[in-house]
Amino acid sequence: MSRKFELRSVDTKVYMQVQVFKEEEVLAQHAASLLLEQVRKKPDSLFCLASGDTPRKTYRLFSSLAKKTAVDLSNCFFIGLDEWVGISPDNSGSCHFFLHENLFSLADISASKIHLFDGMSSALEAECKKMNDLIESKGGIDLLVVGVGMNGHIGFNEPGVSEHHLAHVVALDRTTQQVGQKYFTGETKLEKGITVGMAQCMAARTAFVLATGPRKAGIIHQVLSSEISMDIPATLFRKHPNAFIFLDEPAAENAPA
Ligand code: F6R
Repeated sequence: MSRKFELRSVDTKVYMQVQVFKEEEVLAQHAASLLLEQVRKKPDSLFCLASGDTPRKTYRLFSSLAKKTAVDLSNCFFIGLDEWVGISPDNSGSCHFFLHENLFSLADISASKIHLFDGMSSALEAECKKMNDLIESKGGIDLLVVGVGMNGHIGFNEPGVSEHHLAHVVALDRTTQQVGQKYFTGETKLEKGITVGMAQCMAARTAFVLATGPRKAGIIHQVLSSEISMDIPATLFRKHPNAFIFLDEPAAENAPA
């Protein structure tokens, strides 16, 4: 069972569809089945995927569902939304490691169908250009999956950053540096990130914004009710023509009824 509502913004006619699920597991099943539907609809889809705790179950279910239903993922292309600068891909806290562990290896995605930022590169601007060129050459992102940071960030598009940016390197917010420690086994210096830009996220044909757990209730309330601005980047999806926000009940605690 889930409840659904639409958020209309006063200044535009577009809206974001909000769907609240009893629990994270049900949310993940729903999101995973929609990912699969995207593959069926467009087998060569370009997926842009966040890492983090929120989408883990969705990706794992997507992988197992694809196997069970024999849906062929081999023509899809996957890009990682972001990466910690200075963190190696074999560090279990990296976005790289996460996506391999929770999706690419489970679903047998070939390396030729994956592009991730190299956070260890000494030429980060070139990394951004590679990502921008790739997104452009594929005609834009078909399906974007993001989580919401405790400060409302999307990828590493931190509060206050321009919504017109393409891929860029960013100085991480203090909140992101602190919250990000949860992914690492020991205290880790997290000063910069590299991320797909908000302009590319907003140009995605479809966007899924996921949030789960009681810790997200405060920021989700702000995402759904504050003025649309890059002070809380996730609010921008309220003017995206095809964005869906999937919440579990704890994250939706303060959402409109
Ligand atoms: C990670 C990313 C971040 C996370 C956000 C929420 O690739 O893009 O923006 O989505 O910080 O993280 P979790 O899901 O761990 O709460």
